[in-house]
Amino acid sequence: MTEQVLLLLPPEGQNWSSLETYRAHDGYRGAEKALREMEPAKIVDEVKSSGLRGRGGAGFSTGTKWTFLPKDGRRPRYIACNADESEPGTFKDRQILERNPHKLIEGLLIAAYANEIDAAYVYMRGEYRSAFENLNRAIAEARSAGYLGKNILGTNLAFDIFVHRGAGAYICGEETGLMESLEGRKGQPRKRPPFPAVSGLWRQPTTINNVETMSHVPHIVLRGADWFKGIGTEKSTGTTIFGVSGDVVRPGTFELPLGTPLREIIFEHAGGLHPNRTLKAVIPGGVSMPVLTAEMAMQVAMDHDSLQKAGTLLGTGAIIVMDDRACMVRAAMVIARFFRHESCGQCTQCREGTGWLHKLMQGLEAGHGTKRDLEAIDEVAKFMEGHTICALADAAAWGTGWFLRRFRSEFEAHVEHRGCPLEGVSFEV
Ligand SMILES: Cc1cc2nc3c(=O)[nH]c(=O)nc-3n(C[C@H](O)[C@H](O)[C@H](O)COP(=O)(O)O)c2cc1C
Ligand code: SF4
Repeated sequence: MTEQVLLLLPPEGQNWSSLETYRAHDGYRGAEKALREMEPAKIVDEVKSSGLRGRGGAGFSTGTKWTFLPKDGRRPRYIACNADESEPGTFKDRQILERNPHKLIEGLLIAAYANEIDAAYVYMRGEYRSAFENLNRAIAEARSAGYLGKNILGTNLAFDIFVHRGAGAYICGEETGLMESLEGRKGQPRKRPPFPAVSGLWRQPTTINNVETMSHVPHIVLRGADWFKGIGTEKSTGTTIFGVSGDVVRPGTFELPLGTPLREIIFEHAGGLHPNRTLKAVIPGGVSMPVLTAEMAMQVAMDHDSLQKAGTLLGTGAIIVMDDRACMVRAAMVIARFFRHESCGQCTQCREGTGWLHKLMQGLEAGHGTKRDLEAIDEVAKFMEGHTICALADAAAWGTGWFLRRFRSEFEAHVEHRGCPLEGVSFEV
């Protein structure tokens, strides 16, 4: 069994949120090295060559993203740190915020020094009460200890972090929706260009990075890009926190190297299925990502390339396991309902498409779906993909359309039986 490699999570459920405990575990040594011994450009190079890819869903190279910030000295410039974590099935950032918040603060501090950033705004999911308290307490401690504020670690760096709470809208996790919300408006995504690196928060240069992504920066700087590249696969380096939920004996978070087989995560780390059950389907990266059949899931490794080859994506690494009791039409209907509710309504394809997908799935589930409805689901999903301001429409199309494509016979059985042919359906709503 692959050993857990704990770079982000304290072992055995420990909590390192006090400065004293964090410092006792190499805390702020990466920041000290960065600010005292390294040029800013060298840090950007190091993060780029470490192969670190964003953990917020899209998997884009973090170091490359930082190079998009303009070199014209325009100030102020910001980090928008994405702690919205609203993708269903995803609960990994929460673990860092609650149990290791100084790791995030240290990552943001190094990123600020490397990119001439003046302030970071952490946009946090509103329901994360203890995460909010722990992070704010840690920020206050870091300020008192001279890691935030003016003349940080005796240098002329001035930088601070502010935490903002969301109010329960999934779309505020989309990077430009998040910026609109932070600025006090409705969280409706912006058209691009201009891109946030050039015109982001308050139209100033902004880099947007996820909590887990930023929390990897301190150990990359402290131990070097080559060490980080030694964990994971060639194109998916380092560890990630897999969140496993659904029909497993031991749901939870597991920090493992990227590239760990999905079979191993489900059957060893998460304790396997309940007695006498068989695996039916797995969503590997949050409900936006195409579902896999059991057969596909048993062969795939959890890294960007392997999942793409298998016809899905890593997303947030949130693994949702469904056993033989789960109805695929009901699962797709619940997901379609979520996206319909969360569409911000700006784009016709998304506003109307999410509504149609939900209605069609509801009809099938209730027993009055037709064969023509199955064609319509496919047509609507295709009509939604690739034509909208943000990726929520694609997510809705993938998250539901692939249930039909990969479990077609079960959808057809709903038409023939005029309802669900399964007994003891377990997919909770
Ligand atoms: C509808 C939607 C919701 C999103 N929600 C989140 C979220 O809750 N947290 C997050 O980090 N990224 C989320 N993203 C991705 C962000 O737009 C952005 O790519 C990410 O924060 C960049 O950080 P990274 O490069 O470190 O991954 C979402 C994207 C979309 C389209
Ligand atoms: S795709 Fe959907 S959520 Fe995104 S901007 Fe358009 S309507 Fe809003």
